[in-house]
Amino acid sequence: MILGASSGIGQEVARQLINMGWTVSVAARREAPLVSLKAIEPSRVEYAVVDILAEDACARLQQLADRTGGIDIYLHAAGIGSQNRQLVLQTEEETVRTNALGFTRAMNWAYHYFEQQGKGHIAVISSIAGTKGLGPAPAYSATKAFQANYIEALEQLARQQGHDIRFTDIRPGFVDTPLLGESPAYPMLMSVADVAGSIIKSLVHEDDVKVIDWRYRTLVGLWRLLPRWVWKRMRI
Ligand SMILES: NC(=O)c1ccc[n+]([C@@H]2O[C@H](COP(=O)([O-])OP(=O)(O)OC[C@H]3O[C@@H](n4cnc5c(N)ncnc54)[C@H](OP(=O)(O)O)[C@@H]3O)[C@@H](O)[C@H]2O)c1
Repeated sequence: MILGASSGIGQEVARQLINMGWTVSVAARREAPLVSLKAIEPSRVEYAVVDILAEDACARLQQLADRTGGIDIYLHAAGIGSQNRQLVLQTEEETVRTNALGFTRAMNWAYHYFEQQGKGHIAVISSIAGTKGLGPAPAYSATKAFQANYIEALEQLARQQGHDIRFTDIRPGFVDTPLLGESPAYPMLMSVADVAGSIIKSLVHEDDVKVIDWRYRTLVGLWRLLPRWVWKRMRI
């Protein structure tokens, strides 16, 4: 099951999985792109319109899982993000609502679903943006850190409770999707097809954490070495 499959990374992961022969359930707020995914292979694709901020979101995810005949992997690809150097409060709050509150709701549903089933695999597309506080996008980088910490916590909880649930935290660098908007100025931009392929490999290998790609792995490694007094002076 992929939530956030109407666009960008989630949509491309869904498309590749369908073409590989998997049975896939897809969800998001916009219905038309989900219908197009179902049209690729109607017998192996189920979809539901789900707004993760709506009260009925978990019920809709549950119905979708039932209609699909059960799920093995839940991939959380739903998210919003934008630069917000002017620190517009509405943008910050919307980002927190979707990437933190909505995400928490989806994690809660997926955790209990797999707990009941006895096994499963939860994956989230967080971001390299969650590895540091980024001045141009405070709420985005903070909520991505939240997602990474949250599933690390769930992983420990599942082990303590004896549940066979796997967790994968996927952290891409810049990917060419609608989320980035019109600006052409993103460095080391990756194609959505390549990133989706890497994500599928990570799901199959049940990686704990996957930074995509190797250039961003190097960058994040360097960021971690920087002391705070250097980081706050950097122009990003
Ligand atoms: N693009 C990048 O450079 C990049 C880098 C690292 C991480 N990421 C992360 O990857 C994830 C996917 O981003 P993307 O680049 O593929 O962006 P995208 O093309 O804008 O896709 C975002 C997806 O999230 C869904 N979504 C947003 N709000 C939702 C809500 N309230 N309920 C249900 N679904 C919702 C959207 O569907 P609807 O609008 O139809 O609901 C859409 O399918 C995000 O979490 C993003 O932070 C992206």
